Amino acid sequence: MDRAGKEERREKEIEKTESGVFDKHTMLTISKLMSDGVIDHIDFPIASGKESFVFCAKSRDGGNLAVKIYPINTSIFKNMMRYIEGDPRYEHVKKDVKDIIFTWARKEFVNLREIRKAGVRAPEPIEVRNNILVMEYIGDDDGPAPMLKDVHLDAETAETYLNTIVGYMKAMYKAKLVHGDLSEYNILVWEDEPVVIDTGQAVMLEHHAAQEMLKRDIRNIVRFFNRYDVEIKAESIEQTVKGND
Ligand SMILES: Nc1ncnc2c1ncn2[C@@H]1O[C@H](COP(=O)(O)OP(=O)(O)O)[C@@H](O)[C@H]1O
Ligand SMILES: [Mg+2]
Repeated sequence: MDRAGKEERREKEIEKTESGVFDKHTMLTISKLMSDGVIDHIDFPIASGKESFVFCAKSRDGGNLAVKIYPINTSIFKNMMRYIEGDPRYEHVKKDVKDIIFTWARKEFVNLREIRKAGVRAPEPIEVRNNILVMEYIGDDDGPAPMLKDVHLDAETAETYLNTIVGYMKAMYKAKLVHGDLSEYNILVWEDEPVVIDTGQAVMLEHHAAQEMLKRDIRNIVRFFNRYDVEIKAESIEQTVKGND
């Protein structure tokens, strides 16, 4: 193989290994965020999943930020389409992989803003650029806030958190939003308060699956709190969430 051929293969290999998350396009967006002063540098990885990578980054003044990166690949695209199609806010989006992923990041940003406006504790969205969302970091220098599933709760605290979370669902419903992936994995606990994260799939009530998504959220929460000595029924939670009291 000639030299140019070898170089090309090597390039491809690097691209492939980095395409987990740091493809060329993503690198470019990160460097834009750095040159624009949104972030100073990426500090350490917090979590990596099928659909996203979350990092702790530093701002120029040394504060912590959370940076969520959606890898640009096709495997996550189909799932995203389900929650974008049918939401009146995204009727006119082009259906190309990159566009859908960018729309998803933007949707998570806007949902965070709306959810916070409704009075729910959630990370403050700071910036969204292409497939990258920069938001308030929940945690401190020792590490990110734990997920609800990893926090030990006594019965009294469990009941308090349950009430807070039902209140969050109610506030979102009033703002015409359903989270759609609410569970002990997407609720962090920080300073004795549940914090809702991962809002990309949240939809408006008009979405054809909104009611089903709400029921699933409620089922998840009931299943989790059933471990504790808390008396709850899905039906009464649904009534509370939808009631106007
Ligand atoms: N703003 C944040 N501050 C601190 N940790 C976060 C933040 N956002 C996400 N994380 C961490 O990253 C993990 C994955 O984030 P999440 O938004 O749930 O993405 P995914 O879609 O991959 O589930 C979370 O479980 C949480 O531990
Ligand atoms: Mg999650």
